[in-house]
Amino acid sequence: MSNSNEVFVVQGLAGARTLQGSIATSGAKNAVLKILAAAPLFKDSLTIENVPHIEDVDRSCELLLELGLTVDSKKKNTLIVHEAKKPILDMPHELSKRFRASIVFTGALLARYGKVSFPHPGGCVLGGRPIDMFLSSFEKLGATVIHKNEKYEITAPKGGLRGAHIHFRIPTVTGTETVLMAASLARGTTTITNAVLEPEVVALAEFLHDSGVKIEGIGTPTLVIHGTAQKALIAKKAYVTIPDRIEAASFVILAALAAKDVTVTHCNTIHLESVLEHLKMMGVNFTTTKNSVRVFGNEKIVLQAVTLKTHEYPGFPTDAQSPMVVALTQARGESLVWETIFEDRLRYTESLQTMGASITPMNPVQVLVRGGAKLRGKLLESPDLRAGIAFVIAGAIAKGESVIGNIYNIDRGYEYLEKRLQALGLRITREMR
Ligand code: EPZ
Repeated sequence: MSNSNEVFVVQGLAGARTLQGSIATSGAKNAVLKILAAAPLFKDSLTIENVPHIEDVDRSCELLLELGLTVDSKKKNTLIVHEAKKPILDMPHELSKRFRASIVFTGALLARYGKVSFPHPGGCVLGGRPIDMFLSSFEKLGATVIHKNEKYEITAPKGGLRGAHIHFRIPTVTGTETVLMAASLARGTTTITNAVLEPEVVALAEFLHDSGVKIEGIGTPTLVIHGTAQKALIAKKAYVTIPDRIEAASFVILAALAAKDVTVTHCNTIHLESVLEHLKMMGVNFTTTKNSVRVFGNEKIVLQAVTLKTHEYPGFPTDAQSPMVVALTQARGESLVWETIFEDRLRYTESLQTMGASITPMNPVQVLVRGGAKLRGKLLESPDLRAGIAFVIAGAIAKGESVIGNIYNIDRGYEYLEKRLQALGLRITREMR
């Protein structure tokens, strides 16, 4: 558990490529948070494996306890969630505000128990983070939505939620997951069009399907969910969390900039295709297997600039945008970066500029990155999880020492980060300030 005056202190390599060894990818934060949120759909108990040791998992378990469920965490990286004997349907304000994924709990609670109240969710400040599509979807499923005293109160109709046709005007990851859960126990069939294709959503849908909800179109933008009419789900096997593709991407990008020979293991390279394609275009040398990427032989390469445009999966992931921008500050030439998912996810580039990066904002969602920058270590604050890891990568390649504050934001999604990077030879420590 990190506290607010902990910092990462990183001694920069000043462009040397000396990191060596292998680093295993942990279970995906954005997969495990959603299966935890789905727990109220299940009778008896639900076992979850390959769980990463990160703050957002701890917050999710605390939230489940506040909702009346119990969580058994005896075995390392495994959680067993037990059904609530007396469910509590009012989500705690403070805790729900600490992370965006808290909104996903509402779908399962509403579907199973017919009622839920919650505050506007928290999470990384990447823009407004509205929830209009969640609320309109609940209404289409027959629920009533009341917004008063900073809380939303959602109530399902007498016989439970009713199947509906739901189209997302914008593809939404947690929106797709929340509606998927709500529709699972509804009476009748729900069709979702413009659903997202993220691997974490596919993994959730496959597990719900294997637990008793007939779902068609998994992995396509059109999902057809045949609800169980309030019959709770039965987990016939453990849910095994898929590898974290964003964590793996972050480590591969670090290796591209600072490794002599580093292998990222336990990842799924199909989920990394867009990131790897961009690195190949930049001239990075690496080889892949089904579940590993080996980055080596880059001592003499000169990285080439590329245009970077984020896009829903399988496009370039917005969560890997900030680490990739650090790589682009080192490339030869100018790279246009276009953040198409969030309206305010480029603010962190101001901090990279204090390190010596040459980044010019073109408009709120586009920056021009001029390559060849010699970064210098600085005092930095992590505004969010992915900017935080980008600052660690920038600190690793800079000249001199960087001190990165607010590392709770990094511990939200990267387990034992400093220990794993120390094993590769990076001089990074966790200190109190
Ligand atoms: C999820 O956020 C992830 N978080 C984010 O990862 C990720 O960046 C994002 O998906 C996009 O891939 C979790 O899964 C917990 P969206 P989410 O709904 O679901 C707008 C990380 O670092 N929108 O797909 O909140 C929204 O503002 C985090 O791990 C509405 O307008 O993102 C955004 O512009 C950061 N109304 C766009 O849709 C709504 O009702 C896509 O957001 C909902 C969303």
